[in-house]
Amino acid sequence: MEIFRTVEQLRQWSRAQRCDGGEGIALVPTMGALHAGHASLIRAAAEARPGRVAVSIFVNPTQFGPNEDFSKYPRMFNADCALAEREGATAIFAPSVEEMYPAGAATFVDVDGLSDRLDGKSRPGHFRGVATVVVKLLIAGEPDLAFFGQKDAAQVAVLRRMVEDLRLGAKIVVCPIVREADGLALSSRNTYLSAEERKQALVLSKAVRRVEELVASGERESAVLMEAARGMFGAEPAVRMDYIELVDWETLLPVLSATHGTLFAVAAWVGKTRLIDNTIIG
Ligand code: PAF
Repeated sequence: MEIFRTVEQLRQWSRAQRCDGGEGIALVPTMGALHAGHASLIRAAAEARPGRVAVSIFVNPTQFGPNEDFSKYPRMFNADCALAEREGATAIFAPSVEEMYPAGAATFVDVDGLSDRLDGKSRPGHFRGVATVVVKLLIAGEPDLAFFGQKDAAQVAVLRRMVEDLRLGAKIVVCPIVREADGLALSSRNTYLSAEERKQALVLSKAVRRVEELVASGERESAVLMEAARGMFGAEPAVRMDYIELVDWETLLPVLSATHGTLFAVAAWVGKTRLIDNTIIG
């Protein structure tokens, strides 16, 4: 497996894979601290583009707010490389901050409207940072396919809009949420949780499951579904709810009733750790 540190190295490798104008590479953008959720993305990428999968590992400073966890975000490069290779990655792109943001960098991508909804509302500037780094990765790696997890469903909506608006060549592929046996959605931030918080964190997936059950039983009204989800949080007072939303997955705007493809999303603080979870009504 090759390890690239510069945009130019990644670009040259990617172009060499695209023989005679044929299929290009698959890219799996990550911030490292890889877990089974990332593994499922890498496996899906390797199935789609065997032998042509790049995983980027870059803790992107511009998507963290001033009081967020940029400096303490888990970094475990060697373990990440081993996992990525095991799951079928053929290249790692691990640039420095200076490589991604040259001195004086002044170009950023704003996806108007969408960037201020859901996590973007609670984390001002977050999606600007995400969109900016992802467009840089897509320009650098020139992938045909870029893989993201449904767990970051609002991020997916922002990136889909950006890819469409900028007519970027990559197709966004979204893979299902991977959960622990008890339902907790996998996240690199789960490592911050104490044993007690780990138990409390289950309220997010329980709220998601409750909404799924209600929808399965025929309930569609947003107010009823959201009230039921809020009720679950009532039973776990140590967890501070950030948002509970039922929105159109394309616009991230609230809907009055759930239909096929509606996004139910939840975010909450468990101690100092902010976690998210969601389900797509189907
Ligand atoms: O989902 C993530 O891990 C990050 O937001 C991403 C897409 C790698 C951009 O830094």
